[in-house]
Amino acid sequence: MGKLKAVILAAGEGTRMKSAISKVLHPILGKAMINYVVDAYKKGGCDDIVIVAGDNIEALKKAVPNAFFAHQKERLGTGHAVMSAVEFIDDDDTIFVAYGDGPLIRPETVSAIIAAHKEAGADGTIVSCIFDNPFGYGRIIRENGGFSHIVEQRDADENEKLIKEINTGMTCYNGKALKSALTQLKCDNTQKEYYLTDVALILKNEGKAVQIYIGENPMDYYGINDRAQLAEAAAIIKTRKNTELMLSGVSIWDPQNTYISPDVSIGCGSCILPGTIIEGNSSIGEECEIGPGTTIKDSQIGNNCKIINSVLDKAKVHNEVQIGPFAYLRPKAVIMDGAKIGDFVEVKNAVVGKNSKASHLAYIGDAEVGENVNIGCGVITANYDGKHKHKTIIKDNAFVGSNSNLIAPVVVEKGGYVAAGSTITKTVPENCLSVARARQENKEGRAPKL
Ligand code: UD1
Ligand code: CA
Repeated sequence: MGKLKAVILAAGEGTRMKSAISKVLHPILGKAMINYVVDAYKKGGCDDIVIVAGDNIEALKKAVPNAFFAHQKERLGTGHAVMSAVEFIDDDDTIFVAYGDGPLIRPETVSAIIAAHKEAGADGTIVSCIFDNPFGYGRIIRENGGFSHIVEQRDADENEKLIKEINTGMTCYNGKALKSALTQLKCDNTQKEYYLTDVALILKNEGKAVQIYIGENPMDYYGINDRAQLAEAAAIIKTRKNTELMLSGVSIWDPQNTYISPDVSIGCGSCILPGTIIEGNSSIGEECEIGPGTTIKDSQIGNNCKIINSVLDKAKVHNEVQIGPFAYLRPKAVIMDGAKIGDFVEVKNAVVGKNSKASHLAYIGDAEVGENVNIGCGVITANYDGKHKHKTIIKDNAFVGSNSNLIAPVVVEKGGYVAAGSTITKTVPENCLSVARARQENKEGRAPKL
């Protein structure tokens, strides 16, 4: 028994994107286009993913772990791209060829196509779809109702251009039939390219069974060639995700202005307010209120949290935490249950313990803050000496008065109390009051007359 393999073509230069980065690496809601395609084929039932890459191969390898890569050294067309992957194609495999620029494909569509291909026992299954606006796509030419051939937009005559049944670019083949047809491809068209679309014609001429599967939902098959189409695809993906979340019990005030990446999970009863972006590998628990105007990336949030107008990047927030407005949680910020990170507070590589508070204007970097600690307004951990980063440890029940500087490395022991305006350079012992500031002098009658 062979395998079911998806061969995804992604070596094209994407000239119509006018971009320095490869087309298939353009992000849609923070996730690279190619990863939408790969995920759909994996979830749709493919055993292996083979990506045909060009000069973008190193970048693609980074973006897509757990895939096989074939290198197409010259861009000589979609047929040539599949030829470059021939070492991955075994005779008894079923090969699903797809294009890396079709991020709207869904797993259920992939599995329906595979089922239709297997059921018919066909050598080739071409997936077509009826598009109101077929411009730019290859058109399906039928003969006696069945498949005749595919003609590209640029090779089509006036009558062919009127045809609305387009080639989606998705095709399933029997491995052996595909390999034999690839050896016969020619490049006698306006582009002087090896067109993959000619494979089906070759098979048909050999008397092999080639069927057309008409895809039902045009949206699944949109190909992205320029940045306007990229934005259209993003709008569709956004609507799909927001709808799925709302039906699962998440409130979204204004779905038009809420951008949630497909791999994000959000618990029941949470409410997402306008202007919020949640991307990457992020999860949000139940009964949270997120937003307005909040950006969350690769962060985990527990239950019953409130995050207002803030930015979180690779942070972890436990339960019943309040963040913002205008807080900035940077990588490795960990906020424990019941803590509060208020306005204009920045936290980086630091744990803030249970029920501790930094309510306003503070910087907590490279620090360990215990439980029930109060960090006053304007407190900073001076973690950087110009060369190295140092750690600040503030233990349980400590109180750090307003506008204090903690010059790291430094420790405030349990219950230590730092007087407002102090510059702390050595350990504050347990339950000790530390005052580290110049004494006030009052000079009678010396105030300038204004
Ligand atoms: C292609 C199809 C067209 C179909 C449309 C669907 C051909 C000849 N045409 O046209 O019938 O309607 O897709 O979206 O197949 N690629 C390579 N190596 C190459 C050339 C392309 O890997 O040498 C990759 C590209 O990265 C891209 C995909 O193949 O992901 C499709 O290439 P593209 O140039 O976008 O084809 P279209 O002109 O859109
Ligand atoms: Ca395309």
